[in-house]
Amino acid sequence: MRLAFITSNPGKVEEARKYFRSLGIKVYQLRVDYPEIQADTLEEVAEYGVRWLAERIDGRFFLDDSGLFIEALWGFPGVYSAYVYKTLGIDGILKLLDGLADRRAHFESVVAYWDGELHLFSGRVDGEITTERHGSGGFGFDPVFKPTGFERTFAEMTTEEKNKISHRGQALKAFSEWLKENLK
Ligand code: IMP
Repeated sequence: MRLAFITSNPGKVEEARKYFRSLGIKVYQLRVDYPEIQADTLEEVAEYGVRWLAERIDGRFFLDDSGLFIEALWGFPGVYSAYVYKTLGIDGILKLLDGLADRRAHFESVVAYWDGELHLFSGRVDGEITTERHGSGGFGFDPVFKPTGFERTFAEMTTEEKNKISHRGQALKAFSEWLKENLK
């Protein structure tokens, strides 16, 4: 089986590809720009994107909408993570948290699959924002996110290690379990 992943982010594709490889599912990247609306939840952003795409492209596909939620900043950047990454960047986030003892944060991911109907799968991982960058793997805020119970940031892990614990890995797990049940 082949699955189209609609995203412009090669880091997300690498994770999904590695995740699905062991299940015999081939993930390929489709670059189609779609509107990412301003909304309160990742689910709303994902659903709008999927329905917009479903009117324009044929066949099944999935996308991922994710974000970093920092507790001391009342959940910022959350649904604005992609914009904040591009503008403030990692250095901007480190500056905002400078001197703060409470560095708790979590990532959330919503995987939205379209097969004529919408199916949503979500995942979450808790952790903290480190005071400096560590590691060169992954993408986005990975160099400053250390999941709870680990002494390394996501950027210091292999894709397989990150997938086992990450928000996206969990959403992909729920998605793959649903596929196993529903593609019989
Ligand atoms: P979007 O899902 O394309 O709206 O972008 C979410 C943004 O959140 C990305 O541009 C990254 O900055 C950040 N992000 C989402 N997931 C991850 C992750 O697994 N690692 C690091 N940053 C992430």
